[in-house]
Amino acid sequence: MSDEQRTKDVYVGMSADLVHPGHLNVIGEAAKLGEVTVGLLTDGAIASYKRLPSLEFEQRRQIVEAIKGVARVIPQETLDYRPNLRKLRPDYVVHGDDWKEGVQRETRRQVIEALAEWGGELVEVPYTRGISSSRLNRAVREVGTTADIRRARLRRLINAKDIVRILEAHSGLTGLIAEHAAVEVDGVRREFDGMWGSSLTDSTARGKPDIEAVDISARVATINDILEVTTKPIIFDGDTGGRPEHFTFTVRTLERLGVSAIVVEDKIGLKKNSLFGAEVAQTQDSIEGFSAKLQAGKAAQVTDDFMIVARLESLILKQGMEDALERAAAYIDAGADALMIHSTEPDGREVFDFCKRYQSFERRAPLVAVPSSYDAIFESELHDAGVSVVIYANHLLRSAYPAMMRTAESILAHGRSYEAREHLMSIHDILTLIPGGS
Ligand code: SPV
Ligand code: MG
Repeated sequence: MSDEQRTKDVYVGMSADLVHPGHLNVIGEAAKLGEVTVGLLTDGAIASYKRLPSLEFEQRRQIVEAIKGVARVIPQETLDYRPNLRKLRPDYVVHGDDWKEGVQRETRRQVIEALAEWGGELVEVPYTRGISSSRLNRAVREVGTTADIRRARLRRLINAKDIVRILEAHSGLTGLIAEHAAVEVDGVRREFDGMWGSSLTDSTARGKPDIEAVDISARVATINDILEVTTKPIIFDGDTGGRPEHFTFTVRTLERLGVSAIVVEDKIGLKKNSLFGAEVAQTQDSIEGFSAKLQAGKAAQVTDDFMIVARLESLILKQGMEDALERAAAYIDAGADALMIHSTEPDGREVFDFCKRYQSFERRAPLVAVPSSYDAIFESELHDAGVSVVIYANHLLRSAYPAMMRTAESILAHGRSYEAREHLMSIHDILTLIPGGS
């Protein structure tokens, strides 16, 4: 058979989260050239350069397989097409011409370079006018999310990303900051992946100490305010979790609302904030007692998605590394879905030592770190040490309070608010900050 008669192989890479006529057009053009293999980007490949898609990989695979002209769907594990292309050596890659600019520019260059190795060709289909995935995505975000989709998102993020980045929120407004704050670093958009429902900042915002004086109903009211205006996953700070009999109700309440995880710390009695370290008297639970609480929580949850995170206070309470490691193993045996290792040492050394020893465990769960005291440590260093989730636990409230106090004092000192003006957002900006007010 001459090369002319041979059915040509065509490769199309796509995320296919919100399938629209633009996708169908690309696939239609590809099918005119030969047999189409769609390289469907995995959650991990997508999360490396933009938000996790709403639909999971298998759901997206089902949809794409049903599109006319698609012969098969295979996973594309990286944004970089080259690993799949070198395996398949297709005659053509077909893509919309919109990737000539933006984050995917480099990807496009790599595709052209790889195709040249066997004489393949890149065919670019003119962008379908009037349709934009980003606009559709914005519209979906306006509609919101469901408890089920949101709850499952944390596990998906842990599986898909090198490190999951979480920011404290204690109100609807701070939830909006965690939802929307974004910067571009080396052409890649960087955002927070979810919110931390901190006991410290929720209590402080209510003018109360962080000693479980704010009851669960009040804490859940804050979570509801955040849920109302956001779509990202929430990790709830469950303090000690209370009595095991009460903990089970908290687990179910949070799970029903669409919260993804609760963190419970292995302390009993009157708990104080961990950042006091050993300065204040606090009691650690026994391994048996805390394991029973974890088991009760796991038995109470209804979905497979909800996570119970066991928080190790051994380093905070100066009980030593061996105690932390022994408890880590016991809590995993008791069913903990992840472990939080906490420390107030400013250099982070303790946490790194723990991570190193932890790597030799046979049974491991994802690790969560809270670099409040060791804030000079980069996320990348924590990732290299084996940490999966990093929580910035109190930073929005810690930045807001000094700013508010300075304004209050400026008004008092000057007898007017003019001098404070340079530090304030304009009246126009506050009026229009939340859409729908005019
Ligand atoms: C919180 O944010 O309430 C926490 C983390 O539990 S810490 O304050 O470091 O104890
Ligand atoms: Mg707390």
